[in-house]
Amino acid sequence: MPRAPRAGNRAPCPAARSTSCVCSSPPRAESGDTTTAASTGTETTSPTTDPATTGTSEAPTTSGDSSSSTTTSGESSSSTNGEASSGTTGSGEDLEMQAEDFTCILEWEKVRKFRITNLLGHTDEALEVANNPAGGTYPVGTVIQLIPGEAMVKRAAGWAPDNSDWEFFALDVTAEGTTIMARGTQDVVNGFGGNCFDCHAKAAPQWDRICEEGHGCDPLPFTPEQIEMVQMADPRCP
Ligand code: HEC
Repeated sequence: MPRAPRAGNRAPCPAARSTSCVCSSPPRAESGDTTTAASTGTETTSPTTDPATTGTSEAPTTSGDSSSSTTTSGESSSSTNGEASSGTTGSGEDLEMQAEDFTCILEWEKVRKFRITNLLGHTDEALEVANNPAGGTYPVGTVIQLIPGEAMVKRAAGWAPDNSDWEFFALDVTAEGTTIMARGTQDVVNGFGGNCFDCHAKAAPQWDRICEEGHGCDPLPFTPEQIEMVQMADPRCP
């Protein structure tokens, strides 16, 4: 794929398919965070405050890289430092990933076949859901990847109700780092032309759109060994 610089100006629009949302008027802004939804195309630095406030203090549970990378979205947070999150309890936390926030997936926790972390410091909670035989809802800030080139990121509560607040990403990864090729909810396709939403929406509700095996999604044509090999070959890993 060529380097589409900002596929985000189309993709992040949470309800692009059902409304003719143009991303200039946030479709669902419940709190003061309206600019978050409007600027998911990453043109502006993230207005989210929490990656900086909670990420740096709690991120050590994930890895050194994640804590340093979350500071990239913290640039704009000084003005609202902590206040906004407490003022918008419940929907105040958000994670608007920047390319640098995506790092070597081998440094994250491994659960069955996938890799998981939480860049807002909720990794333990995320692991509890992942390991709960009854399923559950992942906490905001959770990043899950099966292969380096695709990711699901849990956004703020209410960010995209029709996608359980997950943001899908198609990524291009090299030793130099990560490029976001596409991001959004219903319009993101992977390297094989498959639409993320179409498959992941088939997961039964208790699995929070996580497919794995037996959750209702159409299976991927890859063996666990092949998936493991692709993970091990993540070019961003040291
Ligand atoms: C053909 C259907 C299909 C498409 C298209 C698809 N996925 Fe998946 N995805 C799956 C299945 C099935 C699994 C579980 C594979 C396994 O564990 O064997 C999976 C696994 C994952 C996982 C690990 C967690 C989980 O759900 O098991 C992530 C993250 C993920 N996909 C993200 C994406 C993203 C992002 C896209 C689009 C860029 C995408 N997928 C496109 C079917 C699909």
